Amino acid sequence: MTGRVEGKIAMVIGAGSVGEGYGNGKAAAVLYAREGARVFAVDIDGDAVAETRRIIDEEGGVCATHVGDATKADQVAAMANACMAEYGRIDILHNNCGGSIPGGPVELSEEDWNFQIDFNLKTVFLACKYVLPVMEAQGGGAIVNISSIASRTNIGRQLCAYQASKAGLVQFSNAVAFQYADKGVRSNCVVPGLMHTPLVEARVAGQAYGGDVAKAIADRDAMCPTGRMGDAWDVAYAALYLASDEARYVTGAEIVVDGGVTLKSF
Ligand SMILES: NC(=O)c1ccc[n+]([C@@H]2O[C@H](COP(=O)([O-])OP(=O)(O)OC[C@H]3O[C@@H](n4cnc5c(N)ncnc54)[C@H](O)[C@@H]3O)[C@@H](O)[C@H]2O)c1
Repeated sequence: MTGRVEGKIAMVIGAGSVGEGYGNGKAAAVLYAREGARVFAVDIDGDAVAETRRIIDEEGGVCATHVGDATKADQVAAMANACMAEYGRIDILHNNCGGSIPGGPVELSEEDWNFQIDFNLKTVFLACKYVLPVMEAQGGGAIVNISSIASRTNIGRQLCAYQASKAGLVQFSNAVAFQYADKGVRSNCVVPGLMHTPLVEARVAGQAYGGDVAKAIADRDAMCPTGRMGDAWDVAYAALYLASDEARYVTGAEIVVDGGVTLKSF
């Protein structure tokens, strides 16, 4: 432990993982704890968030858990209240919820469009709605939002709702950064590329590769100039920097973590 977020309270929304191993939210929660934060891990899936807590407990860190749906206003208000009841402050808000359903405007149902806007964008709006007043009253805080390179480029699949919502998330993050800059609250985005998280096995392989996991991994690796995908720790370390006081003058920024994928044109 080097204590890069020592003494801070980190609320991570979407702190579990859809499968075995480390997703972006789970890795961030574990890394914040390793670096001295007390973690408030929130997820819609009780088992997934319990597993995150088990790991943090085992490593000697501090973690409390809460089960709730980040797309529902009353449940997000309850998350913020529960974190305050547990720790009395919220220094880091890490918004990890998100995901994609493939399709262009013609193929995508209205329901699937709405779901993705809610999942990728409304979750962050609601979290900010209930956490910003806490941070303002404390005199500061750091918000880390997980966007995607789909916000700025085409990654080879039709993902119009995902692309739109992740791009919207960046500008939402910037709007918060600007409004709260003089209140000590920073708001930034991590912009991951093609990462090998359990999401690849759980969803991407089924959505785009007919369930062929090996092909999904090989294709995604081949799309990266490095020859391989990144992983959840690459995203978590960028988040850690943005959440820490090392980034005290950084707000309204995007850190692209993609091994150079966005440097090439598809
Ligand atoms: N893996 C990649 O290649 C990649 C690339 C770019 C961006 N991202 C972004 O990273 C984030 C997800 O990464 P991950 O690896 O942690 O995914 P994940 O799906 O493994 O974990 C997300 C967690 O969020 C929880 N969750 C789902 N809906 C929820 C809700 N309504 N309320 C509360 N919790 C909910 C899930 O139960 C799960 O535990 C997303 O924002 C995604 O868009 C991933």
